Amino acid sequence: MARVETSSSRPYHLVIFGASGFTGQFVVEEVARTVSEGPNGNLKWAIAGRSKQKLERVLEQAAGVLGKPELRTEVDIIVADVEEPDSLAAMCKQTVIVLNCVGPHSFYGEPVIKACVENKTHQIDISGDPLFLEGMQLNYSSQAADKGVYIIGSCGFDSIPADMGVLYTRDQFKGTLTALESFLTFSSGPDGLCYHDTTWLSGIKSFADSQKLQSIRRKFNHKPLPAVGSKLKRRGTLFYSSEIQQYTIPVIGCDHSVVKRTQRFLVEEYEATPVQYGAYAGIGGIGNIIKLLFTGMMFWFLVKFSFGRNLLIKHPAFFSFGLFSKDGPTRKQMDTSSFQFAFYGEGYTEGEDPSQGKRNGKIRTLIQGPECAYVATPIAMVQAALTVLNEAAALPKKGGVYTPGGAFAKTTLVDRLNKHGIQFSVI
Ligand SMILES: NC(=O)c1ccc[n+]([C@@H]2O[C@H](COP(=O)([O-])OP(=O)(O)OC[C@H]3O[C@@H](n4cnc5c(N)ncnc54)[C@H](OP(=O)(O)O)[C@@H]3O)[C@@H](O)[C@H]2O)c1
Repeated sequence: MARVETSSSRPYHLVIFGASGFTGQFVVEEVARTVSEGPNGNLKWAIAGRSKQKLERVLEQAAGVLGKPELRTEVDIIVADVEEPDSLAAMCKQTVIVLNCVGPHSFYGEPVIKACVENKTHQIDISGDPLFLEGMQLNYSSQAADKGVYIIGSCGFDSIPADMGVLYTRDQFKGTLTALESFLTFSSGPDGLCYHDTTWLSGIKSFADSQKLQSIRRKFNHKPLPAVGSKLKRRGTLFYSSEIQQYTIPVIGCDHSVVKRTQRFLVEEYEATPVQYGAYAGIGGIGNIIKLLFTGMMFWFLVKFSFGRNLLIKHPAFFSFGLFSKDGPTRKQMDTSSFQFAFYGEGYTEGEDPSQGKRNGKIRTLIQGPECAYVATPIAMVQAALTVLNEAAALPKKGGVYTPGGAFAKTTLVDRLNKHGIQFSVI
């Protein structure tokens, strides 16, 4: 069982590392809102980063936004830098869990995971990069298992809604669910959607290194997952979806990779029936298809060369039609944005044999929530940490590098998310 108690030498339940970042500041606010959900109603926490002054400003801002002046004096600050391994070790030794918001994770994430494993500290991150996530699984799974440490990646919008959504839909289906497609859509207010450019930088690195993912996957040497029931057909790269009434593309990101890793773990660990999964996202009408084609072609061409990557990094707003910017979204943009994941599942009703004939049962579920990157992500990350702290006995028996679904399949994470505005329902 995961070790979750604090002690005199390990005084904090959690430390938010990278608290001065765009996402980190909102994780600080979310932790401050949920302290009463910690063990025995009292979460002990601190914030960390490489600049004490910036961290003080984050506490000052959170104190003002939340009307909690005590945050200025009661929350401890730890100075730690990814470039200084001793400072990472010192940070890890003081806490049960590190919530890692230092990004891009593909640049700075590995030293944090290494320090966590070496110092027996659990780690939760919000990487959405399959190359980083699968690479960390390959490199640290057995060491983390030996130390009894849980390294749980992709605990933000990428990919808690998709991964837990698959498990939720499976659990609600009366019978054996074998195939599932999700359709993701976003809504925004008059000022549109916007994301901070560190995520754009993460995407550039991930695309530039995409061949390395195949080599990591070869090293795992996995057997194919057993095929149960009739095969789920793959859709095209662009199609009109009758489900969400708009043009649709496969999701770019880690949802598919994370769900597949979870399914493999559940098959191997609990002999579960695997669910085949297709992840799609709505892009709207013809105007957006033209913008996407322009962005996609420019991105695909420029990302191959270092001068091209520098151009993309320097001008995120130009190349993304304003979707990514160096300032990130305004509070108004965040307050008026939301996401919806519509899941369409099929399987075999109770008493039907999945090895015989076509799927005969259907289910539809919906997962909806607030702005995805800086409102839903902090909620998901903090609830993931609170689940580790409060439900250690329901985590997998051994430590290791886990997906959210692998770590939290037997916990009440979905109920916790429901209480915090990320709602799962059958429709
Ligand atoms: N899964 C999701 O849906 C989701 C949503 C949002 C964000 N993210 C990911 O979260 C990560 C952070 O994004 P962001 O927009 O918040 O980035 P950001 O604003 O650039 O923040 C980066 C943070 O990392 C810190 N940092 C950089 N180098 C460091 C070092 N050597 N030592 C210690 N700290 C260091 C920065 O500290 P300083 O302030 O001192 O520079 C800052 O606190 C990215 O990987 C992004 O893709 C994921």
